[in-house]
Amino acid sequence: MALEPEDFHYFRTLLQRRAAIVLEDEKAYLVESRLSVLSHREGFGSLNALATHMRSGGGDDLQRKVVEAMTTNETSFFRDNHPFEGLRLIGFPELIRRRGADRSLNVWCAACSTGQEPYSVAILLREHFPLLEKWNIRIIASDLSTEVLERARLGGYCNAEITRGLSARLADKYFRHKGKEWQVRDDLRQMVEFRPLNLIDAWPALPSLDLILLRNVLIYFDVPTKRTILEKVRKVLRPDGYLLLGGSETTLNLHTGYDRVAIGPSIAYQPRAEA
Ligand SMILES: C[S@@+](CC[C@H](N)C(=O)[O-])C[C@H]1O[C@@H](n2cnc3c(N)ncnc32)[C@H](O)[C@@H]1O
Repeated sequence: MALEPEDFHYFRTLLQRRAAIVLEDEKAYLVESRLSVLSHREGFGSLNALATHMRSGGGDDLQRKVVEAMTTNETSFFRDNHPFEGLRLIGFPELIRRRGADRSLNVWCAACSTGQEPYSVAILLREHFPLLEKWNIRIIASDLSTEVLERARLGGYCNAEITRGLSARLADKYFRHKGKEWQVRDDLRQMVEFRPLNLIDAWPALPSLDLILLRNVLIYFDVPTKRTILEKVRKVLRPDGYLLLGGSETTLNLHTGYDRVAIGPSIAYQPRAEA
């Protein structure tokens, strides 16, 4: 389906307003490919018909669907591996040592997509820190998109998704076969609380967090939005907690309130103590 320049402008503005996602001019092809399926499913003959309907007050639900269709949900189990190695070698052992008295840990995956990231954290804890079974562990996982959250909650993955990041041993241990899919085992699924959360809206109450994974989402935002989100993260992250960003993301030149720390083979950020 072809995309008129004024329709591209409309979709781009909608995406920026509702999700803070910035679309460059050369990304028109993305709008075309991602919205064509939705447009067809919703009974519109063209992207222009969809945009015209929405411009004339097409409804909040359709706006939500357009925004969700435009998000990039790329993810995998143990994505990039080294951050999880960093957590295994340094991050979790340090946190366990410091939280021994109250025996509780709060983790937040702040753009969890279809759930591979929070389930990777849960598997890591189960595999390497069995003593935590007696602790109060909360893994909160959120995303803007209700569609990916529903998939995450269901915890069903195809073979290709499973083999991206999971060894056969871990797949067999934490998933069971369900038809052509792999289904996450109930005890692992119960470790994760999924909830919708748009990072640019007011945040609901969150516990003080020991670890925040905010990975591969800041890249989609403009600089003021990145700064605002990093400021809000600083308020919910405990002073000795860890923030993990994606491989191409950093707080550098965005926010001076973080220290960059090495955790094994990876990098994390900690709130800088006030001078
Ligand atoms: C590329 S995925 C990253 C998934 C996972 N964190 C990882 O690194 O594998 C980006 C996710 O950010 C979500 N997202 C985009 N804008 C958002 C916003 N304003 N608030 C919350 N989530 C958002 C998308 O729906 C998508 O699932």
